[in-house]
Parts: sequence; C-alpha cells; structure tokens
Amino acid sequence: MLILHQKLTEITQAALQQAFPEEFASSLKSGSPLNAQLVYASKPEFGDFQINGALSLSKALKQPPRNIALEIIKQLNKDEKFLEICQLPQIAGPGFINLTIKGSQITSALISRLNDDRLGIPLVQKSKKEQLSRVVVDFSSPNIAKEMHVGHLRSTIIGDSIARVLEFRGHEVLRLNHVGDWGTQFGMLINYLKTVSPKALQEPDAIDLGDLVEFYRQAKKRFDEDSEFQDASRKEVVKLQSGDHESLQSWGLLCEQSRKEFEKIYTRLDIRLQERGESFYNKFLQAVVDELKASGLLVTDNGAKCVFLNGVTGKDGKPLPMIIQKSDGGFNYATTDLAAIRYRLHSSPQGDGANRLIYVTDAGQASHFAGVFQIAKRAGWLKSNARLEHVPFGLVQGEDGKKLKTRSGQTVKLRELLDEAVSKAETDLRQRLQDEGRQESEAFINHVSKTVGLAAVKYADLSQNRVTNYQFSFERMLALQGNTAPYLLYALVRIAGIARKGGDLYIQNNVTLNLTENIEWELAKALLKFDAVILEVEEELLPNRLCSYLFELSQIFNRFYDQLPILKTNETTKNCRLILCRLTADTLKQGMNLLGIPTLERM
Ligand code: ARG
Repeated sequence: MLILHQKLTEITQAALQQAFPEEFASSLKSGSPLNAQLVYASKPEFGDFQINGALSLSKALKQPPRNIALEIIKQLNKDEKFLEICQLPQIAGPGFINLTIKGSQITSALISRLNDDRLGIPLVQKSKKEQLSRVVVDFSSPNIAKEMHVGHLRSTIIGDSIARVLEFRGHEVLRLNHVGDWGTQFGMLINYLKTVSPKALQEPDAIDLGDLVEFYRQAKKRFDEDSEFQDASRKEVVKLQSGDHESLQSWGLLCEQSRKEFEKIYTRLDIRLQERGESFYNKFLQAVVDELKASGLLVTDNGAKCVFLNGVTGKDGKPLPMIIQKSDGGFNYATTDLAAIRYRLHSSPQGDGANRLIYVTDAGQASHFAGVFQIAKRAGWLKSNARLEHVPFGLVQGEDGKKLKTRSGQTVKLRELLDEAVSKAETDLRQRLQDEGRQESEAFINHVSKTVGLAAVKYADLSQNRVTNYQFSFERMLALQGNTAPYLLYALVRIAGIARKGGDLYIQNNVTLNLTENIEWELAKALLKFDAVILEVEEELLPNRLCSYLFELSQIFNRFYDQLPILKTNETTKNCRLILCRLTADTLKQGMNLLGIPTLERM
C-alpha cells in the first residue's frame, strides 16, 4: 500500500491546493504548508484511507470542517488519477473523508508482488528523498565475568530484529556488542584469582564461566570486607589500564572465557554481532575530557570533573552532574559511552561515520542515555542529520509478577531457560503426535522442538510492547492459540500442506486474480499492508508492530482457509486462492525472518 499511499498523498494535497488556492499559497510561503492528512484508515469500515485534515484546517481556512471536506471531495471527483484509484469518496462524522481503493488496484498490486521478492518494501538507496545511512545498533552487551541474564536476552532478541529490519531496508548496519570488559571488576578479579586460582590467569580453559562468575562473587565479597584487598585491587586496575603486559594477558584470558559462553548463546539464537567492548574506547577517554573542557562544559566539583545536565535536577532543585572523571582519575561508564558516541559519529578512518545510533538496553538506563546524548549534542559532535536513540525495554518478570527466578530462588541462567523452552516444546509435540495418531522420526521431533522452543522465546519477547514489563510464561508462549510463534508457524504449515496435496503455489502463466469473497478481499488488503508496517518499524523501532501485523495476517488467513475450499473448486478460483496462499506464506516467512525467527514446513 506504500505506493498507493504516496500517490494519494500527492493527489489529496493537490485537491486541497485547488480548493483553497490563496490560503495554500500563503501557507507555502510561511513555511508550514496546509496538510490534508491522508492516513491509513483506523477501521475497515472507514475504507482503506482517511483524509483527516478538515478538522484541524478549520481555523486556518475559517470554515466549518464539513465545508472543507466537501470542497476537497469536489476537487477529488474531478481528478482522473484519483478516480482510477478510488471509489467515490464518502464524508463521515464532522468532516472526515473515507477512501476505498478500487478492487482492480488491489489485484494489480498483488500481481506485482508475485514478481517482487522484496514484497513491496523499497530499498533506501532507490528513493531520492531518503539517504542511505550507516546505523549502529548497540545491543546484547553483557558483562565479562558475569552471567548473561534475561535482560541481555531481551536486548539481544530486540536488537537483532531491529538490525534485521534496517538491513533489509538497505541501511548499512554495524551490530555492536558493547561488552563490559573494562573497569574495576577486573582489578578485583585478577587480584583474587592470583591467590585462589593463578592458573586461570595463565592458561586458557582453566575455568569456565560458571566458576568465573562464582570467583567474581567471592572477590566482590572480599573487596567489600577487606580494605587491604581493596587497595591491592585498585592498584591492579591502574596496572591494567596503564597497559601492563602481564595484567593485559590475564585480562585477555578472562575475557576469552566469557566470550566462549556468550558465543554459545549467540550461535543458538542465530545472532551475528561484532564485539567491540568498553576497553576499545580506553584510548579515547582522555580526548573526551579534553574536548569537553575546550567546549566549556566541564566543571570541577569536589575534585571530580563533571558536566551539569540541563533540565535534570536533583531533589534540592539543583542541576545534576554527570561525572566524567572521578577525583582519583578513574573514568566512568558514562565516559566510555561518550567516547563511543564520538567515535561512532566521527567519519572514518577515525570513526564509524554513522548517523543513527541505536542503543537497546533496559529502561533503567534511560536517564544515563538521556545524559550522555545531551552532552554529546552540547559538545557539538552531532551533524544535523544524526539521530541518537535509546530503545528501552521493561523487566522480565516471572508469572507471579516478580523478578524472574528459578524455583529454588536463583537467577535464571539463559542456557537453562532456552533448554527448558525446547524441552517443553518437545513434550507438547509428543503429546500432539499421540493425539493425532502420527508417527514421526526422532530427527523430526528434535528439529521441530528446537525450532518451536526458540521461536516461542523470541516471539514472546518481541510481541510485547517492549517498554512495558513482560511476564515470562512457557505455557503461554508455546500455546498453539493466541499471539504466539506456534500460531504463526502453524499458518505456514497449513500452506505447506496445501502444496503437498498438489496445490501449485508458484503458478507462473496467465495469472489473473478474480476475487469474489469478502474474506479474499480482506486477506488481499492485509497482504498489501506489509510494506507500510516495515517502514513503521524502521522508524519507531517497535518490533511488536510487526508481530501484531503477522498475527492479524495469520488470523485472516485461517478464516480464509476455514471458510473457502482451496483445491476443490474450479480451476480459475483455485489458482486465485493458491496465489493468496503463496503471498501469505511469502509474507509470513519474510516477516518472521525479520524477527529472527526460523520457520517450518511441518510441525
Ligand atoms: N553492559 C551494559 C549492561 O549490562 C549494557 C551496555 C549497553 N551499551 C552501552 N553503550 N552502554 O547493562
């Protein structure tokens, strides 16, 4: 529908101009042209598009909205291009105009999708108005020597989907894993390991991540209790940060242990990521301080170098500072993020040359990002077209609404969580096979359980509005009914079944579409909305919009499938319905691919 939306926008703007030539001309001069506001219809009973502008234009045009709407309609009815696309416009309520696309336009748009493997989604380079951009998606980003937790899982799944949508649109995407691999935890850890497990600092594979996490916990405890240990640990950090060879080597080994564990999760979830941890920006931290000083933003407060944030005040009403360099000379998480922004925006070779930076983390970091974004802007690092966006998400909760924990009250390990999803999917599948009296090979059962289990975890996360907290429930995410991955997968399996029963989904010659039933039209129109949904996700970074769309499409398809014969009907009708099936399958597959979810032919 993108192309139709575009054409109709031009047409309605022209109609508005012709209806009110003088007012339109002066609005152009003033720099805020009158807008007829053509949008997608909010309900099917309103047709396909609505012109909503009459109400808000009433003041500027000094006329009641209904008159404005009537004037616009008069012009539309004179426009041949309009009459080719739409049925006669209908006025509704106080001055809305409802537009319904002609059937012939719908069918020809569908036919052109048959030969378009991008399903109507344009590539950014192709259009003149948009610019190809380089985008950084900073996601996943767990911390070395700590277990990856469910928050990182959310970041990984949401970030990957956002990156996929941007890539599909043709943007150049840098998928960056900003791992926490620098800072005070290493001083503590190295110092502790020196006494309890020196091997871990000298040989690879001496310990695994589980041990490392436990050592980290013990080291932290010791650090909090023992002041001598504290001093030694601080010295260790200084040694590391000043580039001491031995320290760096130990550090490298520790990072390697964690990395291996992270990799296992990424492989399982099919995630591509480039690791560029906090340590990478170490060499730029001083430059950040210098530049902030040169731009006059840096203030020394109690020995710490900081920037006071505009519009952010503490309880006492005074502006809050963001500390850039502590009084002991150490740098903060925020300093590294400033160095990262600076590097990512700077043109190559001194930087990534990106113009859109996207950060996917829990909502708890919102004020951190608001702060660093503000400082970067005030320091003048942003070109006019640059966008910095924090993509926050809510907490993962157990079914009791509290923080997700295992039955014994421990934090849930990602590996175990994924294992459980797969094993629960397997139990469900075996039960279903038994109920249906089906015999399947173990290889089939393994493959289906693995795909369904992981798909369910990903989809459950993506289908929520990411900003709200989300309740994790294996039962709900694996259900065959409702807005779940198995429901979508099942629609695809039905279509594959039609093909197995002899339906040729890829009929090449003499394609004519002769839609007669309401549900066929509904399905056709739903298919055409895919392109607009993808552009919306690209803009608003809300993958749940894509999920809702795919869910709705599957629901409409299932109604179509239940109501109408597909194979057992005359040749022309059959072919036409097979084409609808095929486009549904293509759209679902592409959509799920953009969510990072694999699909199945049988389940
Ligand atoms: N390591 C951080 C955490 O676990 C997330 C980092 C997000 N990215 C960033 N550039 N700050 O919370």
